[in-house]
Amino acid sequence: MDGNGRWAKRKGLPRAVGHQRGVEAVRKLVRSVGDMGIDCLTLYAFSSENWKRPEEEVDDLMNLMRKFIKSDLPEFVANNVRLKIIGDWQGLAPDIVAMLEDALEQTAGGTHTLAVALNYGAQQEIASAAAKAAASGEVTEESIAAHLYTADLPPLDLLIRTSGEVRLSNFLLWQAAYAEMAFVDTLWPDFAPEHLQQALDDFAQRERRYGGR
Ligand code: FPP
Repeated sequence: MDGNGRWAKRKGLPRAVGHQRGVEAVRKLVRSVGDMGIDCLTLYAFSSENWKRPEEEVDDLMNLMRKFIKSDLPEFVANNVRLKIIGDWQGLAPDIVAMLEDALEQTAGGTHTLAVALNYGAQQEIASAAAKAAASGEVTEESIAAHLYTADLPPLDLLIRTSGEVRLSNFLLWQAAYAEMAFVDTLWPDFAPEHLQQALDDFAQRERRYGGR
């Protein structure tokens, strides 16, 4: 969800406002994915490298997470949204961990998934899954995949990066092996359901061969 800071800067607003508007964009998208036929939407909210940001910004992001869970949880439950957290989220502040545990429990019966990556890094995910696979005595693509955070999620079809950045930044590296990529210039706070629909329409035109012909 890239571009919150630049969005705010362009408008002469504090970065924190950019992140707040980023949450608004999340809310609108989550409300629309059911109608778009998307089984799972995964959002990269906080990477394991984001701790390097100034403490004030990390605090702002964590507070936004608290507010978001509190305000939107009833809507998730009402709309059959299953929340899923990927990443080392047990390492977050204890009150956030408790809120997330409650939210996971309350939304467990949901029919489509909102996965939020928190304290997530793909290289750590792969290393840890490989270690678990080795400990089980079977190191295969399947056994590693079975130990990834995403083991119970559908395959990644489309990976969208906003704000004109053209790199993966340690996000879903294993899962992206055959995903289609979309790099869009839109800054995250401006990324609306129409932009997602456009990305889906482009995706529908792609021919996926998975290395075959
Ligand atoms: C990247 O933009 C954005 C982040 C590191 C944080 C994303 C988090 C949110 C939108 C809020 C919390 C999420 C949820 C699901 C409640 P940037 O700050 O790197 O922007 P820049 O590249 O323009 O500086």
